[in-house]
Amino acid sequence: MGKTMRAIGLMSGTSMDGIDVALIETDGDQRLERGPALSYPYSEPFRAQLRAALVEAARLRHRDERPGSLRLTEQYLTDLHAEAVTNFLEDCRIAAESVDVVGFHGQTVLHAPERKLTVQIGDGARLASVIGIDVVYDLRGPDVAAGGQGAPLAPVYHRALAARLPERPVAVVNVGGVSNVTWIGGDGTLIAFDTGPGNALLDDWMHAHTGQAVDAEGATAARGKVDEDALTALLTHAYFGMPPPKSLDRNAFSLDPVRHLSLEDGAATLAAFTAASLARACEHMPEQPKLWVISGGGRRNRTLMTMIAERVESAVAPAEAAGFDGDAVEAEAWAYMAVRSLKGLPITFPGTTGISQPLTGGVLARK
Ligand SMILES: Nc1ncnc2c1ncn2[C@@H]1O[C@H](COP(=O)(O)OP(=O)(O)O)[C@@H](O)[C@H]1O
Ligand SMILES: [Mg+2]
Repeated sequence: MGKTMRAIGLMSGTSMDGIDVALIETDGDQRLERGPALSYPYSEPFRAQLRAALVEAARLRHRDERPGSLRLTEQYLTDLHAEAVTNFLEDCRIAAESVDVVGFHGQTVLHAPERKLTVQIGDGARLASVIGIDVVYDLRGPDVAAGGQGAPLAPVYHRALAARLPERPVAVVNVGGVSNVTWIGGDGTLIAFDTGPGNALLDDWMHAHTGQAVDAEGATAARGKVDEDALTALLTHAYFGMPPPKSLDRNAFSLDPVRHLSLEDGAATLAAFTAASLARACEHMPEQPKLWVISGGGRRNRTLMTMIAERVESAVAPAEAAGFDGDAVEAEAWAYMAVRSLKGLPITFPGTTGISQPLTGGVLARK
């Protein structure tokens, strides 16, 4: 058995709600102890800055270009991550010296694997020097450069987490900005892909109509009625029928089919869209899961959870029912992969990103 390390993961997902921080102890393989986790939300002005960054990034041709305000946004984002680590260590009374490594996701501003391009802003070297802990960053880059989808990456960690669950096959889903599923077969086989939208469309809808970032608990969607024509139109997207491996950019789907609907009906239809695209993911699974475990912020949307349960065949459980921390899974995954990266262990596989052979990833920035 390899050496156990203490690792912190930093995740800021496509929903751009903030930074999730989690500590784990792991050998990068089967040994796994989960520690504390906390989230540090972005301010609304910084979210607006990130939305502008997505627009600027759409014209990137090379992954190290930082035109316009992207450079400044990257520096500020890095400093916010440094602050999150400092606060986390203080809040949890952990000494920086006791932490071996930080796994740093950064903020995805462009994901176009078909052009061998995935761009996460975030300066690993700057972060390492400020927090005084080694940082592993750019975990997606090598996979995309080698022809993989560069997403999803969490499946290798989902498998470690699910080792404690008896159900097989089991599906571990993350409903973040985009949704992704990891199907884990009886023999440990992994099939993983982005299933479709998560919360991002619904967040955009709410933001445009109410100025609020979230449909809290799905209350707005609960008051609306699903517009079946709009839902059908949304589901005509070619993505759903494509076999995996496959992954999505945050802005892959358009709100056009729902634009004429009321606030409530639009919210209900978009929640149904997320649920229905998860159900369509079953087409790409060799055997139906016995259990669906849902992590990510979307599990707090009760309307969405009900809609998922109505559309898939077997039991649906929020992460906590399976003993996971549903807000921390992705951050823990980045901590886990940072350790795997240091040990040269693979983080992506043919079944998860379509890479031809298992591949490690990540760049090490020394403190
Ligand atoms: N109480 C809540 N009710 C409904 N939706 C929520 C709630 N809390 C969070 N969410 C949704 O979850 C999203 C954040 O989920 P998260 O897993 O952090 O995604 P990401 O990994 O993309 O950042 C929010 O943007 C919001 O849409
Ligand atoms: Mg988040």
